[in-house]
Amino acid sequence: MLKKKKEYVVGVVGATGAVGEEMVSVLEERNFPVAELRLFASERSEGKVMEFKGDPVTVHKLTEESFKGVDIALFSAGAERSKNFAPVAVREGTVVVDNSSAWRMDPEVPLVVPEVNPHDLEWHKGIIANPNCSTIQMVVVLKPIHDAARIRRVVVTTFQSVSGTGKKAMDELLKQTTALLNFKDIECNVYPHQIAFNVLPHIDKFMEGGYTKEELKMVNETKKIMGDDSIKVTATTVR
Ligand SMILES: NC(=O)c1ccc[n+]([C@@H]2O[C@H](COP(=O)([O-])OP(=O)(O)OC[C@H]3O[C@@H](n4cnc5c(N)ncnc54)[C@H](OP(=O)(O)O)[C@@H]3O)[C@@H](O)[C@H]2O)c1
Repeated sequence: MLKKKKEYVVGVVGATGAVGEEMVSVLEERNFPVAELRLFASERSEGKVMEFKGDPVTVHKLTEESFKGVDIALFSAGAERSKNFAPVAVREGTVVVDNSSAWRMDPEVPLVVPEVNPHDLEWHKGIIANPNCSTIQMVVVLKPIHDAARIRRVVVTTFQSVSGTGKKAMDELLKQTTALLNFKDIECNVYPHQIAFNVLPHIDKFMEGGYTKEELKMVNETKKIMGDDSIKVTATTVR
């Protein structure tokens, strides 16, 4: 459990990424009581300098030693890093808020959207999972309807931004857009097909049964957050 303090030592894992950069700016925007901010990423970013409240903060390579003295760590560096490093952080007494898919469906880990199931925070054992971005927005709308009238079935289609795939995807969109507007050929590296001026009904990999992993996240995470396995969800997720 997090001890109440005036200010906290906060770590951001994946600080140089699309999500990590937003986390740093939201900490600043909300005036979160940060005693010290520690930024971590891969060795590619070692020594890079970011800014927090006008002060420079150096990015360090994530290691098993990174969490000493860190009260809260916000993880956003991919599921593999979360699987490997969140337990290390918890052993140091850090409370981890994980943005990846690594722990979301673990029965020992609460999956929390503050507007929907804040009570689930009470039983965390060091890791708190944050749902898929589409699930978050959907359950905020579903919760009051479910409370008032009980939802039996949800049919949802999402059209999701390229930024959800991370920085490299945003660069690919820009390059393809520039190329197409100049009548040049495009390269596809991040996505299997052209993404500029296009939509792809394919996010993450295809699973058994024909749904994508992203679609199944919306199905399973919704049930866990709403605390009701009987809600039927069918999702089509489009990039
Ligand atoms: N819950 C949500 O709403 C939501 C929404 C979008 C994304 N996400 C999740 O958030 C995570 C990051 O997404 P993103 O869009 O920000 O991706 P991104 O722009 O590609 O950034 C990835 C970040 O992870 C770091 N990283 C990569 N390999 C690492 C390693 N071996 N050790 C330490 N750090 C490493 C990168 O550091 P370098 O810059 O040094 O490479 C970078 O800071 C993903 O797990 C994604 O699924 C969650």
